[in-house]
Amino acid sequence: MAKAYAPYSKFPVGAALRTEDGRVFTGANIEVASYPEGWCAETTALGHYIMGGGGKIVEIAVLAERMAKCSPCGGCRQRLAEFCQPDTKLYLCDNTGVAETVTMGEMLPYGFRGDILK
Ligand code: THU
Repeated sequence: MAKAYAPYSKFPVGAALRTEDGRVFTGANIEVASYPEGWCAETTALGHYIMGGGGKIVEIAVLAERMAKCSPCGGCRQRLAEFCQPDTKLYLCDNTGVAETVTMGEMLPYGFRGDILK
């Protein structure tokens, strides 16, 4: 979150993904002057995760400076679901730590799965 580039919304967000072998991939939101072209902290973290070799994600944390329990947007739920399982834990945080724990299945029920496309 400290590394966010959010001069327009002034809404810094941080995300971290941990893989089963203990690697942690972090991300922050990055905005651009053409607003729709910016992207979320979770998406940055996923980029780091893929470029860092991927693997099984076991837990995800999201933290926003100005909002307790900031939950991933719809697009990020779909992106996270691509690399997670329905039982993957997602921690919605506040500035004291984990405020609520949910699963990816709860976050994106009935999400589109691309299995048939492979
Ligand atoms: N944002 C995230 O990075 N993650 C979320 O889960 C929700 C929203 C960012 C996108 C944008 O830079 C700012 O928060 C305000 O929408």
